[in-house]
Amino acid sequence: MRSKTEEADIYQREHAAQLCERYRCRYHLMPPYGWMNDPNGAIYAFGKYHIFYQYNPFSADWGPTYWGHFTSDDLVFWHLEKTALAPDAAYDACGCYSGSCALFGGKLYALYTGAAEGAQTQCAAVSEDGVHFAKCEKNPLIDGEMLPAGANGAQFRDPSVFRRGDRFYLIAVSEDEGGGTRFILYTSGDLLTWELCGTIYRDDFSAMTECPSYFRLGDADAVLCSPQGIVGGAFGKDSNLLLLGSMDWGRYRYIVERSQKIDHGFDFYAGQVFQAADGRNLLFGWLRPYEYHERYKEDGWAGALTLPREITEKEGEIFVRPARELEKLRQDMREIADFSVCGEIALSDWKGKFSELEFDVDLKNASVFAVRFFQNGERYCELRYERESGTLFFDRTHCGTQLRQPYEPYVRTCAVGRTETLSVRLYLDNTVAEAFVQGGRYALSGYCLIEGGDGVSLYSEGDCLLRRAVRYEMKSIYQKQEFPGEE
Ligand code: FRU
Repeated sequence: MRSKTEEADIYQREHAAQLCERYRCRYHLMPPYGWMNDPNGAIYAFGKYHIFYQYNPFSADWGPTYWGHFTSDDLVFWHLEKTALAPDAAYDACGCYSGSCALFGGKLYALYTGAAEGAQTQCAAVSEDGVHFAKCEKNPLIDGEMLPAGANGAQFRDPSVFRRGDRFYLIAVSEDEGGGTRFILYTSGDLLTWELCGTIYRDDFSAMTECPSYFRLGDADAVLCSPQGIVGGAFGKDSNLLLLGSMDWGRYRYIVERSQKIDHGFDFYAGQVFQAADGRNLLFGWLRPYEYHERYKEDGWAGALTLPREITEKEGEIFVRPARELEKLRQDMREIADFSVCGEIALSDWKGKFSELEFDVDLKNASVFAVRFFQNGERYCELRYERESGTLFFDRTHCGTQLRQPYEPYVRTCAVGRTETLSVRLYLDNTVAEAFVQGGRYALSGYCLIEGGDGVSLYSEGDCLLRRAVRYEMKSIYQKQEFPGEE
């Protein structure tokens, strides 16, 4: 009899040919067929990068989730692997939810949430080769009995596992009976037998905070997490928060000193941090396709991951930049230098569908400077800096589509402050845009679907000087479309 992971592989192989290509990305990770949400289990192990993802192989809607899997030698070009986990046990029948990976004794352990009706528990699957996983017989490893009082075993998930000295630790989140979310710490010597340390931190947001991801950033203990609802903000608006503070390992308390968003765009969610082969902190996020879900669905797929980004700290400031490995994707460079802009100027031979663009601008007398992209005539998406207020806008007002979410679907902003110069790096991948401004101090990402939108233009109110602008065509990260099990 076929296993559920084999069924998933066969289904995706048989249906991938039916995908409509019109909105597909060239250099972002997407599901081979069906639905993708959170990045899971990102790790460098057995000489390769591994990224797993929440996956419904049978439809472009969320459904009981599997773990899909890609590997890469260099973080740039990816290979689709066999589906790693399927919801085939009583304790994970509603889905193998999000989690993370750790290496121990030469084996790769995937710690994930088993979702069943009314109960979420923490489970493990082990792999000796990084591709085939066997669920642990002891599953579930952490169940409702091991929760601190006040936590809710029906909403208890997303283990973030890490090593400290000779111990492993895991942080999972649970809804608190009194509202808000508990961040709960467990410890283990072998990744299989876990002990409760306690609730290390509680937030008081209006809805549950998901997907904690613990890492060390400089001297700080950092946790990236995804609040579903911040008090005073509407659901879905504030979708990522980086907590910075210090862990009191004696009392098991996490003292949060400050927090900030690491992506100010529309669609970044469920970010997960992991370490590169050389120790850099890297990050993948999920680009939630909510706003355009119906249109993607017509094509048989939905959801993508962000580019792998590096997260660093310098003198208290946080920088998020695309991993430098991505430079390998650049080809066919075009460059402009010392070019005055006033009003709208189309960069007519700069086709922008699958490109990386860089702009280095001296704002001179300009009160507004904008890059318009995915442009087709009057329709475009815009990254705009308004000097008076020192605000950066990611603006979909002119995208030509009625967007429907109740929370600011057209414009997102971030405060950059007054500046004389602006540096913008923009990654355009057919229907996905990721912008990194002022050397990575501000990241903004989101989808924008404009039929035939491959134009790029610049706009300014008042004179400014484009000191340098560069465009690269980007290569595909999918070198050869191969499906697991195919000869
Ligand atoms: C976040 C999330 C996680 C959960 C997973 C299920 O998007 O809701 O909390 O583990 O998705 O697919």
